[in-house]
Amino acid sequence: MIRAIELNKISFSYKENQRLFKDLSLTVYDGEITVISGSNGSGKTTLGKLMMGIIKPEEGSITLFGKESSKMNLGQRGQQIGYLFQDPARQLFASTVYKELSFILELKGYDETMIQEQVSKMLDIFQIGYLKDMCPFYLSGGEKQRLALAAVLINQPKYLILDEPTTSLDPKRKQILSDILKQYREEGKGIMLITHDEPFALEHGQRVIEIEGGMITYDSKFEA
Ligand SMILES: Nc1ncnc2c1ncn2[C@@H]1O[C@H](COP(=O)(O)OP(=O)(O)O)[C@@H](O)[C@H]1O
Ligand SMILES: [Mg+2]
Repeated sequence: MIRAIELNKISFSYKENQRLFKDLSLTVYDGEITVISGSNGSGKTTLGKLMMGIIKPEEGSITLFGKESSKMNLGQRGQQIGYLFQDPARQLFASTVYKELSFILELKGYDETMIQEQVSKMLDIFQIGYLKDMCPFYLSGGEKQRLALAAVLINQPKYLILDEPTTSLDPKRKQILSDILKQYREEGKGIMLITHDEPFALEHGQRVIEIEGGMITYDSKFEA
C-alpha cells in the first residue's frame, strides 16, 4: 500500500512545558479510510493540522506521498491533501458560493466552460445550487459545511483529511457524504476521518486509531 502521510517521531506543544505529542510516529495509507477517534482535547485536530502543515512539529519529520512536507509550499501540499477544518467557516473566504468553488479552478487555469461544468456538478451533489450567489458568511452551519466540503473536493486532492465532517449535517446530507466517501475510496483514494460520530466511523473505517493524551492507545484494522 502507498504511504500517504508519514509522521516520523514528531513532537509538538502549543505552550512551553505542555507537550502534546512526543516522538509520535504514524503512517496512514492511500486507498483506505482511517478513522481517528479520542475524547475532546486528545489532540485529533492538532494531528490533522500537523499533517496538513498548518502548524509545524518542533522535532521529527512529515512526508506526504514520500516527499518531505517542510520542502513543499501550501499550494503543493494542497494538491496532495485536501483538508476540511473542524470549523468549516474558517476556510471560506470568497464573496459568493460560486466563487468559493471556482477559485481554485481559475487558479489552475481551467477554461470557463470546464469551470462552470465542475462548479455546477458540485453545487448539485451538495444541494447548494440555490445559494450560488449568496455570500458564504450568511449560510447556516450545515450549508457552510457542505460548501467547505465541496470546495475541498473540487480540487481533486489525492488524499483527504476531514475533521468532524458530519457535525452540522442532517441524516439526508450525511448519506450524501457517505456516498461520496465510498466513491472516493472506490477510486483508490484514502481518507483520514476525524470523528466522534461512532456509527459513521464504523460504517466507513477500515482502520481505527484512538489517541489519548497525545498517544496512540488503539490501532486496529477492519474489513469493510
Ligand atoms: N491554538 C491553541 N493554543 C493552545 N492550546 C491549544 C490550541 N489548540 C488546541 N489546544 C489544546 O491542545 C489540546 C488538543 O486540542 P485538539 O487538537 O483541538 O483536540 P481534539 O481535536 O482531539 O479535541 C487541547 O488541550 C487543547 O486545549
Ligand atoms: Mg478537534
